[in-house]
Amino acid sequence: MTPRHLALDILLAVVNKGESLSAVAPRLLGRIHDSRNRALAYRLTLDTLRHLNRFSWIRDKLLERAFTGKDMDVALLLTLGISQLSDPDLPVHASLNETVEVAKTFKKKPWAAGLVNGVLRNFQRRQEELTAAANKQDTLFFSHPQWLLTQLQQAYPNQWRAIAHGNNTPADLCLRLAPRIDTADYLAQLSSELNAHAHANLPSAILLNSTDITSLPGFATGDFSVQDASAQQAAHILQPQAGETILDACAAPGGKTTHLLELSHNQAQITALDIEAKRLERIQDNLTRLGLTATLMAADASDTASWWNGQQFDAILLDAPCSATGIIRRHPDIKWHRKPKDIEQLVSTQAKLLDTLWRLLKPTGRMLYATCSLLPSENSEQIKAFLARTPNARHCPLTLADSHDTGFGTQFLPTDAQHGDGFFYALLVKDDDK
Ligand SMILES: C[S@@+](CC[C@H](N)C(=O)[O-])C[C@H]1O[C@@H](n2cnc3c(N)ncnc32)[C@H](O)[C@@H]1O
Repeated sequence: MTPRHLALDILLAVVNKGESLSAVAPRLLGRIHDSRNRALAYRLTLDTLRHLNRFSWIRDKLLERAFTGKDMDVALLLTLGISQLSDPDLPVHASLNETVEVAKTFKKKPWAAGLVNGVLRNFQRRQEELTAAANKQDTLFFSHPQWLLTQLQQAYPNQWRAIAHGNNTPADLCLRLAPRIDTADYLAQLSSELNAHAHANLPSAILLNSTDITSLPGFATGDFSVQDASAQQAAHILQPQAGETILDACAAPGGKTTHLLELSHNQAQITALDIEAKRLERIQDNLTRLGLTATLMAADASDTASWWNGQQFDAILLDAPCSATGIIRRHPDIKWHRKPKDIEQLVSTQAKLLDTLWRLLKPTGRMLYATCSLLPSENSEQIKAFLARTPNARHCPLTLADSHDTGFGTQFLPTDAQHGDGFFYALLVKDDDK
C-alpha cells in the first residue's frame, strides 16, 4: 500500500460514499505502518479535499467527456494527481509516477494508467491557463461551495476572504497541558523539529507540527490532551468549582469534560451525556488516561424523562451539535458534506436543546452555549431568539482576546493558525426572581 493508493482509498470513502473523514481516516490510515508514509497519505488526502471542487473542475476541462459512476475511482485519482502537481513542495516525478502506478492496480480498467498519465501530463502543459481560468470563479478560487461562501460573505463582509483562506490552511496540532505541567518545562522536552511554542493568550496551550501524539512525552501519564485553543476557552469561561454539579450535555469525546474536571481539581460532579453510546467509550478512555472521574450516560439530552433525576445543575455546558463550519481547516470534507437543509435542521435541534436544558439549571446557575460553527443562524441569531423567548435568561458578554463580540455571544475566527478554530460562545445566567 503506497501513500497515493491509501489517499485514494480514503478519498473514495469520503467523496464517493459520503463518509466523514474523521470516521474513515482512523479506520484506513493503519494500513501503512511507516509513520512518514502514513503522514504523507493523510496530507495528500487533506490537500485534495481542501480544493476538491477546484481540482475536479480542472480535471473535467482536461477530459473529452466527464466520467460516470463506475469510473469515478479513475476520476478521483486524476483529482488527486492534479492536487499533487499543483503543490510546489511535492516532487513532480514521484507525484506523476506514483499516481500512474495506482491506476495500474485497477485490473478491470487496463486503459486507466494510460489515460491518467496522458491527462496529468496535459495538465502540466496547461497548468497556468487552467489555473487562471479557475481563479475567475470565487467558488473555485476559494474552494468553497456557493451556499457557504454566500453565507460567509453576508456574515463577515470584511473578513470572508481571510476566513475562506483560513479554512484552507493546515492547522497546527494544539495540546492542552494538564494544570500540574509547567509549559516551559514541557516545551524543553520536545524536539526542535516540532516547532513547538506556547499559545500567545493561553499559557496551557501549545502549538506544534503534526505528529504521532502517542510518541510525545507524558501521553500515557495524562500530561496533555489534544484540544484546539478556541475549544480550550470553554472550561475557562464556565470556571467550574469544586463540589458543583455540572451537566456536559453533548460531551463526547470528552475534550471539554476533562478540562472542566482538571480546572476543578477533579472535584466538580460532572454528568457527561452523549446521544451516541459508542462515543462514550472515547470519554471514558480520556478520563482514565487523565486520572479523572465523571458520571457518563448515553441519552438524548432533550429527552429528559429518559435520564434526568430531577436535581437541577449549578452549571451546564451545551456544546451543541452544529455545522462544524468553524473546524473546516482540520476537517475539509465538511465543506462538501454539509448542505443548507442540514443547517435548518441543526438550528431547530439547538433551539430545542437550549429550551429543554434551561429548565435543568438552578436559579442563578450558568449555561455556556458553544458551537464550532461560523454561521450566525447557529450562533448569535440562535441566542438572540432564545433570549427573546426566555424571560429569566440573561446574557453575560465575554471579553476574550482574539474573539469578536457579536452582541449575543463571541466568535473566534480561523483566520490565523495561532488563533484556533472558529468557535462561538454565549454565557447565559438564570435570574432567580422570575
Ligand atoms: C460538538 S460534539 C461535542 C464535543 C465535546 N463537547 C468535546 O469537547 O469533546 C457534539 C456531540 O453532541 C452529541 N449529540 C448530538 N445530539 C445530542 C443530543 N440530542 N443529546 C446528547 N448528545 C448529543 C454528538 O454525538 C456529539 O458527540
